[in-house]
Amino acid sequence: MNPDLKNLQPYPFEKLKELKASCQFENGEPPLEEHIALSIGEPKHEAPKFVLDCIADNLNKINRYPLTKGDIELRTAITNWLTRRFKLSTNALDPKKHVLPVTGTREALFSFAQCFIDRTDTPLILMPNPFYQIYEGAAYLSGAEPYFYNTTKESRYLPDFDAIEETTWQRCQLIYICTPGNPTGSVISKQQLIKLIELSKQYDFIIASDECYSEIYFDENNPPTGLLEAAEECGNTNFNNCIVFHSLSKRSNLPGMRSGFVAGDAQLIKAYLLYRTYHGCAMPPVHQIASIKAWDDEEHVKQNRELYVKKFAAVIEILSPVIDLSMPDAGFYLWLNTPINDEKFAKEIYKKQNVTVLPGSYLSRAYNGTNPGENHVRMALVAPYDECVTAAKRIKEYLQTLN
Ligand SMILES: Cc1ncc(COP(=O)(O)O)c(C=O)c1O
Repeated sequence: MNPDLKNLQPYPFEKLKELKASCQFENGEPPLEEHIALSIGEPKHEAPKFVLDCIADNLNKINRYPLTKGDIELRTAITNWLTRRFKLSTNALDPKKHVLPVTGTREALFSFAQCFIDRTDTPLILMPNPFYQIYEGAAYLSGAEPYFYNTTKESRYLPDFDAIEETTWQRCQLIYICTPGNPTGSVISKQQLIKLIELSKQYDFIIASDECYSEIYFDENNPPTGLLEAAEECGNTNFNNCIVFHSLSKRSNLPGMRSGFVAGDAQLIKAYLLYRTYHGCAMPPVHQIASIKAWDDEEHVKQNRELYVKKFAAVIEILSPVIDLSMPDAGFYLWLNTPINDEKFAKEIYKKQNVTVLPGSYLSRAYNGTNPGENHVRMALVAPYDECVTAAKRIKEYLQTLN
């Protein structure tokens, strides 16, 4: 058995299942209203019909093995999307060198570390805290030690790269950033990204930027910035040490298609392609064809955002009179600072209002004397509008009993 496996913690949803199982209901069963889950970060809006039609029309393509590096048509569509979306200069990215399809960002975020960590050199992998738990597993299974940089309310849930000591940067081989953040919704500014790129040049580490929520934002004129954009702006036109992770799961409501990509530093992409040849997670040909359609279209993405804008506006209007909360920068989560312990809050809301939210401490670790997930819950506004509104009203009712 690989001894590193024992470092893997139960996934947050397993902990949540246990918490819910431990609930004693007053009448032996949950209250009468229907259950509403705000706990799972799975998009629930409809998948675009033109993509589903495209899958149906191309099923016969299943009779060939896909290329690990993906068809050039897909890599070109991705390159064009990145160039448009992040206003990169024409030809800054070459589809043959800078882009690689992956079967969802999850497997890529996980396997990436195994490809790049030098185990012989007491490696550190830096990651946000709270976080997407895959980063932690990736660190352990690649033989690195995780280092958590806390993102707290005081810093608007953003990383403070200045607060990280030189000895940490010296051991850092890879840093995961998540922008927009899960669960915080905070977007790292271009200036901060440029600062990180400068640090990566100074200390020679890789920046893995998880940008899978980048297309869920609320101001059409102000989309979240991305790492490649920042790299170009500060003159790192080869994208040295910079890799971004993107996905159709949230952007296009296609989580089951398992379609994403990594892009950036050509040398890293080359090494990762070699790794992936063995890894064996090539994207099925049908999904490649359907992905091209999805990356080529922005209208469905805009319509998707409009649904989130409406839900956030309604939920914030309901809850803001009873609790301090504001619109996140982006993404589909509300990261609520709870007036009581987060596990207790989640348990009570479930027991009394039949709404499930995720305790923040299930998404974080105690580190440097604090656990930044404590006293927070994550609410994913993925359910239909009416359900989100009903859930918000029930949470309000519960909050009023605490005052
Ligand atoms: C922060 C973050 N990164 C990556 C993923 C993985 O998404 P996918 O594998 O569907 O691209 C998720 C999924 O919830 C996520 O929340």
